[in-house]
Amino acid sequence: MTILVTGGAGFIGSNFVLDWLAQSDETVVNLDKLTYAGNLQNLASLEGDARHVFVQGDIGDGALLKSLFARYRFRSVINFAAESHVDRSIAGPGAFIHTNIVGSFQLLEAARAHWGGLDALEKGAFRLLHVSTDEVYGSLGREEAPFAETHRYEPNSPYSASKAASDHLVRAYHHTYGLPVLTTNCSNNYGPYHFPEKLIPLCILNALAGKPLPIYGDGQQIRDWLYVTDHCTAIRRVLDAGRIGETYNVGGWNEKPNLDVVRGLCDILDQLAPRADRNSYAEQITFVADRPGHDSRYAIDAHKIERELGWRPAETFETGLRKTVQWYLGHEEWVRNVTSGAYRDWIAKQYA
Ligand code: NAD
Ligand code: TYD
Repeated sequence: MTILVTGGAGFIGSNFVLDWLAQSDETVVNLDKLTYAGNLQNLASLEGDARHVFVQGDIGDGALLKSLFARYRFRSVINFAAESHVDRSIAGPGAFIHTNIVGSFQLLEAARAHWGGLDALEKGAFRLLHVSTDEVYGSLGREEAPFAETHRYEPNSPYSASKAASDHLVRAYHHTYGLPVLTTNCSNNYGPYHFPEKLIPLCILNALAGKPLPIYGDGQQIRDWLYVTDHCTAIRRVLDAGRIGETYNVGGWNEKPNLDVVRGLCDILDQLAPRADRNSYAEQITFVADRPGHDSRYAIDAHKIERELGWRPAETFETGLRKTVQWYLGHEEWVRNVTSGAYRDWIAKQYA
């Protein structure tokens, strides 16, 4: 049997593929366009492993999808492929519409055509799991209850609006055509292979390079953080046992203001890689202009996945953050390669 993973060269997708093949011999076909965020070095340990078939391509390419479904007869699809960075969606939303909306639509069409041709047994076993975000629910006030699956959709950025659109399409394909879908809406992930345009890896690398740690606005915006392998476990659990057509919110029970996250990072770095002058990396914290339309708080109510599927995160923020810092300290070559070229142009433009 074979699964299709889309976006499996990105941050969460590559962690998922590595995790999957560490626990199972089921072949993974990994379809990834290799945008700036896709990186085959994340999967270097799978070189020569016949259980991993990498295909460079676009989820918006219907003909390619059709040929892959015909060739491999996937028993499940897990859709990670997306444009994922809020700041880039503000700078240029077009790619987000192309991949997150039109691409998801093409994937749904290909899955529907494939599923329609299966026999009853295969049809019953097939699943399409769509990986989405808590950002579709919009922004919470300080005193509001965390997002449950029933929370209204109120996306505020081009990124979250495009993810919301894809969630609606996934839902509609179940409701209208009966396609056996599952959706997960997860909070902010962090961990190995995280592209350093996002807050945590950006601050680790800037700290070590003696550069400012840029905090948007007053740094009091709150996110719920989940270690990436906990997200992978949740996805596997939902794929195995989630109820068809349902959505499951996934979170770390770990709300933190951005400033506390960065201070926590600095504490760990002070222990593991102290500055030459022995002062704290926290000295490098710099307040910069706020993100336009910055959502002030995300928080996940993850009771449903715990109650129905018995999933809870294994890592605390303290253990996860320490592992993450250790990973970046131990992977200098990976860091050197991803921070060259186009990455520098983005950082120069964004933090000018
Ligand atoms: P990422 O940006 O690191 O990786 C995205 C991957 O998708 C890259 O490998 C890229 O090359 C690939 N891709 C982009 N456009 C494509 C296309 N048209 N066709 C095929 N491949 C394409 O993103 P990530 O952080 O790993 O996020 C993965 C998924 O999880 C996304 O759907 C995102 O919305 C969702 N999510 C992310 C987080 C988070 O904190 N990172 C939290 C919740 C949900
Ligand atoms: P990010 O990692 O981009 O994830 P998201 O926007 O999807 O939550 O940002 C996390 C939080 O950190 C968010 O509130 C924006 C903030 N942030 C900064 O303060 N400085 C930065 O340089 C970046 C990239 C993000």
